Amino acid sequence: MKPTDDSRRDFLRATAAAGLGAALAHLGADDAQASPMYAPAPGPLAAPPVEKVRIGFVGVGGMGMVHVGNLLAIPGAEIRAVCDVVEEKVAKAQEQVVKAGFAKPAGYSRGPRDFERMCQEEELDLVYTATPWEWHVPVLVAAMKAGKHAATEVPAAYTVDDCWLLVETAEKLGKHCVMMENCNYGRSELLMLNMVRKGLFGELLHGEAGYLHDLREIKFSAEGEGLWRRAHATRRNGNLYPTHGLGPIAQCMDVNRGDRFDFVVSMSSNSRGLRLYAEEHLDASDPRRRETFKLGDVNVSLVRTVNGRTIYLAHNCDDPRPYSRINTLQGTRGIFSGYPDRVHIEGRSPKHQWEALDRYYAEFEHPLWKDDEVKGSTSGHGGMDFLEDRRLIECLRAGVPTDMNVYDAVALSVMCPLTERSVANRSRPQDVPDFTRGRWKTNPPLGIIGE
Ligand SMILES: NC(=O)c1ccc[n+]([C@@H]2O[C@H](COP(=O)([O-])OP(=O)(O)OC[C@H]3O[C@@H](n4cnc5c(N)ncnc54)[C@H](O)[C@@H]3O)[C@@H](O)[C@H]2O)c1
Repeated sequence: MKPTDDSRRDFLRATAAAGLGAALAHLGADDAQASPMYAPAPGPLAAPPVEKVRIGFVGVGGMGMVHVGNLLAIPGAEIRAVCDVVEEKVAKAQEQVVKAGFAKPAGYSRGPRDFERMCQEEELDLVYTATPWEWHVPVLVAAMKAGKHAATEVPAAYTVDDCWLLVETAEKLGKHCVMMENCNYGRSELLMLNMVRKGLFGELLHGEAGYLHDLREIKFSAEGEGLWRRAHATRRNGNLYPTHGLGPIAQCMDVNRGDRFDFVVSMSSNSRGLRLYAEEHLDASDPRRRETFKLGDVNVSLVRTVNGRTIYLAHNCDDPRPYSRINTLQGTRGIFSGYPDRVHIEGRSPKHQWEALDRYYAEFEHPLWKDDEVKGSTSGHGGMDFLEDRRLIECLRAGVPTDMNVYDAVALSVMCPLTERSVANRSRPQDVPDFTRGRWKTNPPLGIIGE
């Protein structure tokens, strides 16, 4: 049975016990139109301040250890427990915490659901997960049900049901459920946001985003993501990893804070890259040579927002190509584009020509990136991972809303199942649920923090 099914059943049992079962009966259907029927709580946007953020970390593989390293350098954060299905990984993480001068965190490695025991036994304020995708929702729900705030790597969830489950659990229990979208904290992405806020691009019309990353070698590796990521490509066809590209564009377009995603259409190319790679790189006797893949190499989607903006969203991890998240924003007064970073601003740039972005940092650097500690951070994608971890801890300690909240987590993540549905139905439009239930109209835009 899929772990998501378990967590869903547990949640329904718990809500039924609280007299909410009937109201939540609709959750059995994976339906984009489904919306909660019980009166929503005010929303898990702020919680009482926590002086010292005691953390339990689940999944200390590649990305988990980047977060652990960051957290050890952030004032007010303390890693109290570590969980992984591989005992040696727990030991390695414990050793790193001790080396940094903290007490040895408790270790949990008694199988794939041992995070539940961790959530029950440990006094924690925050549970992080950097596990394979299928475990994000079970960990987040277990954490919130045990009274902890929760944070996850991307995507937060990949079914519509699970997106609602996260929203409803966070609202009902008043807990933060944050998706760690590090690209929202990239230096050029935050510069772009600052320039948008200062009106340089005029009214925003259109964005282009993607996750274009040749992961063939990683997907066939005998460790790390090779153990789980390729399996998704055998059974799913759509955009499996939309949040890195879409996050910064949504942030600039005030998604959930004045605008929201309305509908999406999606189309996938043939599936070739993984099969070809296996044929050319694996022994004939290797069982992976017999795997078949459903995931089209190139998936392209178009998203329209309620306010009429358009977004092109792409995914390709299975063919030879240089890395790109595209990161393009077109407004009535100019355009920003990534890979390589450049801008054209009417009245400032030479007519019809791009300008290199470099010259704009002096004037428009985002205040969060003026910090030497962020600029000097070498761990995790050039400083943006450190900044996202530090911001989360700072917000929890201050008792203020986190930059990204549960609504942002699911608005971005729900593109996984909706693109899959559109692909499976001759690219028919799929409505994006309003997870905020109308609050997107009045939620204030994300401020330029630090100004
Ligand atoms: N934000 C980024 O830039 C970025 C980069 C890489 C990966 N990621 C995301 O991070 C997550 C992890 O990816 P990764 O590259 O670190 O993968 P990984 O395979 O290196 O790490 C996953 C870890 O989780 C452990 N694990 C698996 N099931 C578990 C369970 N039930 N309980 C506890 N531990 C479990 C594994 O043993 C492993 O140590 C994924 O969601 C991925 O999409 C994000």
